[in-house]
Amino acid sequence: MGSTTMSPADVKIGPTRLLINGEWQESAGGKTFETINPATEEVIALVADADAADVDRAVAAARRAFDEGPWRKISASERGRLMNKLADLIESNQDDLAALETLDNGKPISESLSADLPLTIACYRYYAGWTDKLHGKTIPINGPYFCYTRHEPVGVCGQIIPWNFPLLMQAWKLGPALAAGCTLVLKPAEQTPLTALRVAELAMEAGFPPGVINVLTGFGPTAGQPLARHMDVDKIAFTGSTEIGHEIMKYSAESNLKSVTLELGGKSPNIVFADTDLDAAAEGAHFALFFNQGQCCCAGSRVFVEHSIHDKFVEKLVEKAKARRVGDPFDRDTQQGPQVDQDQFDKIMGYIEVGKQKGGELLCGGARVGKKGYFVEPTIFDNVSDDAKIAREEIFGPVLCVMPFTDVDEVIRRANDTPYGLAAAVWTRDIEKAHAIANNVRAGTVWVNCYDVFDAAAPFGGFKMSGSGRELGEIGLDAYTESKTVTVSLD
Ligand code: NAI
Ligand code: MG
Repeated sequence: MGSTTMSPADVKIGPTRLLINGEWQESAGGKTFETINPATEEVIALVADADAADVDRAVAAARRAFDEGPWRKISASERGRLMNKLADLIESNQDDLAALETLDNGKPISESLSADLPLTIACYRYYAGWTDKLHGKTIPINGPYFCYTRHEPVGVCGQIIPWNFPLLMQAWKLGPALAAGCTLVLKPAEQTPLTALRVAELAMEAGFPPGVINVLTGFGPTAGQPLARHMDVDKIAFTGSTEIGHEIMKYSAESNLKSVTLELGGKSPNIVFADTDLDAAAEGAHFALFFNQGQCCCAGSRVFVEHSIHDKFVEKLVEKAKARRVGDPFDRDTQQGPQVDQDQFDKIMGYIEVGKQKGGELLCGGARVGKKGYFVEPTIFDNVSDDAKIAREEIFGPVLCVMPFTDVDEVIRRANDTPYGLAAAVWTRDIEKAHAIANNVRAGTVWVNCYDVFDAAAPFGGFKMSGSGRELGEIGLDAYTESKTVTVSLD
């Protein structure tokens, strides 16, 4: 075990109230909820529990800031300056933010520092660069007219995010919205409210005008739902379960037909051909599934392995899983912390039970680690059948399924036999096989000889029931802009 450089008691908690119109406020009903340290099951803090009345106040503030406030008149380059200032403030507070993320979510501190923080900062900087580059076109229509398009902000955005990457999901939502000139109401997940509030505090320090960024901590049905149903919200962006994705669409349909973007679940195929560098592929398959405690929408949870290398490859996978260091997320050497909460822990243990009874052969793991905290052993099932529950449903935990295959067409068909389509990967030295997978697997992202390579400039999102719309990159701005056509008579 390495040295623990920081203990939970040293972490600065930051704000725990709602940010509405630039002011920290209790919820209208005065209610709070507990946010828990998943490594110890102890209460970290009490956080304001927003409901419909708070949603009304926050949306009204965002509406005013958009319709009348300084945000509407601010220049595009000034928006970029504010966003860069926020990125700088996050950077200068990155150690504290990483510790707060680890405390609230349970992810290893080494990963908060090496992945979550740098990606978050890069996302704000990337979108800061877009603010003054949202160009329309001049269009040569028939007749004596001057015709052009403007890319205008879509308006007031509701943004609902999950708990697996709290800081990063906030950046993916705020980045394009602010770049486009929108105002917003963000609802972080109830499991991990703290870093969103701290970033909002830094945004106030950066100088964002009141009402541009509002943050409501609280629960899905009582805070998320009224936000998604609100008649004054122009757009809703949601990341989370496919189940709630269905609800979000319904809320829009039943209210004002606000535009909807969804980033939902996945059951991503990770395809390993016999000709690949086996060590690199084994490391890739291990990382693709176990990274972030298996709590990734794009986790490589179905590992298709070519028959001829199956035994050798599986041996390497098991060796790595057994060597994985599970434990105190504040220990710099820890590779896997606890699952985020009791619900997720129970869900994962339920799937492991189902897998043991029907579906595959348990090669390693399958049990809880310790007695306190939501720790789960890295678990591998082999020879999992395509129709097994553990091969079809998103487990969102450290449970890897190995599924042998023999040829390219077969593996493409089986990889696509899922309602999801978020990501896929292929490991091979054969360029034809690589492109056969890249072109024919129906998924929003395909990695070739790599996994989980994320960059703010590269679009991300799902085919099929993994969602609609894309985040990141230039295309990520589409969801936050409306195209307006202006036609001027020259007669
Ligand atoms: P969830 O979809 O219930 O929660 C995600 C966010 O939506 C949270 O902020 C939550 O408060 C909010 N929410 C919940 N119900 C809502 C409603 N009726 N209206 C508006 N907002 C609502 O996901 P949960 O319960 O945390 O996890 C369940 C499963 O979802 C996980 O086991 C995993 O399979 C999947 N999931 C996928 C994620 C992804 O990145 N695609 C992230 C988190 C969970
Ligand atoms: Mg839920």
